[in-house]
Amino acid sequence: MKTVFSGIQPSGVITIGNYLGAMKQFVPLQEDHESYFCIVNQHAITVPQPPTELRTNTRRLAALYLAVGLDPEKATIFIQSEVPEHARLGWIVQCLAHMGELERMTQYKEKSQSRTEAIPAGLLAYPTLMAADILLYGATVIPVGDDQSQHIELTRLLARRFNHLYGDLFTLPEGYNSPFTARIRSLQDPEKKMSKSDPNPQSYISVLDTPEIIRKKVKRAQTDSEGMIHFDMEKKPGVSNLLSLYSAFKRISLQEAETHFNGRGYGALKEEVADAIIEDLSPIQERFQDIYASNELDDILTQGAKKASAKARIVLEEVEKRIGFTR
Ligand code: TYM
Repeated sequence: MKTVFSGIQPSGVITIGNYLGAMKQFVPLQEDHESYFCIVNQHAITVPQPPTELRTNTRRLAALYLAVGLDPEKATIFIQSEVPEHARLGWIVQCLAHMGELERMTQYKEKSQSRTEAIPAGLLAYPTLMAADILLYGATVIPVGDDQSQHIELTRLLARRFNHLYGDLFTLPEGYNSPFTARIRSLQDPEKKMSKSDPNPQSYISVLDTPEIIRKKVKRAQTDSEGMIHFDMEKKPGVSNLLSLYSAFKRISLQEAETHFNGRGYGALKEEVADAIIEDLSPIQERFQDIYASNELDDILTQGAKKASAKARIVLEEVEKRIGFTR
């Protein structure tokens, strides 16, 4: 059986980009994979997080994992900092990586260039911890949006480097996503990806936004002046993004979505996109409230950390033996 691993940072809100690009893909994978889904709070602190917000966002994300349909009987759900093997392998992987390789990462360049404050060293080292997350479980199937592809590629490079230096141990992971949901665009600037760190909340929809807010945000989404509905990401990124959202939330192909809106106007498109989002998210939001308040959530996370640690320890011990850490 193949192993799947993925993680989401508990920083800010969880957008429908995170949901379609990652979280929604996790659910079917748990049926026929050994599955590990992590709340990567150690990644989140690569930029400063107010402690109370980090604590709340961590619990919210854990509740959301369950609300979208992850089943603790089938998947191991846990918080990264509660499994110390991540930080330990993270350091070792960091020592394998070269500065130039890390400085080349697009996400690092974007995040460091847009910062006015000092750049935390963790922002540069970030992908080495991500590589450790994946390699600790021997995961080969990594459901992520396409902004993470470069990090997966680097994980493969570092795994190969380790195998070459210390003997074959790691299998090489691959990104897993659907071409139409791997990059959901900002509603306000469809040239850019939808991002939870965007200062303009009109640009993203949170999985927990109310129906009224969802309608308002979709209504204000950027389109173009052509007035025709068809998919062309180059020339019509706004309309194409709305079509992608419609097809993903209705679980139909892009072609079916195009046919559905043939000859109709942008008003109808926006109204039906909002309906489709609300219809999909409403039951998740209802479940979320109950789970967030439950003690059961704590038990699931405690058990998850134990199971994850038991698995991760085996690989970490082998790595430490090979690099000469054992007496
Ligand atoms: P993060 O927290 O930034 O985002 C979580 C997931 O959501 C995807 N995503 C999107 N997908 C489609 N369209 C978008 N607009 C969009 N925005 C975000 C991201 O690609 C990601 O899959 N480094 C990771 C977390 C991580 C991880 C891992 C992932 C840490 N360790 C190991 C996989 C395996 C991150 O920052 O995701």
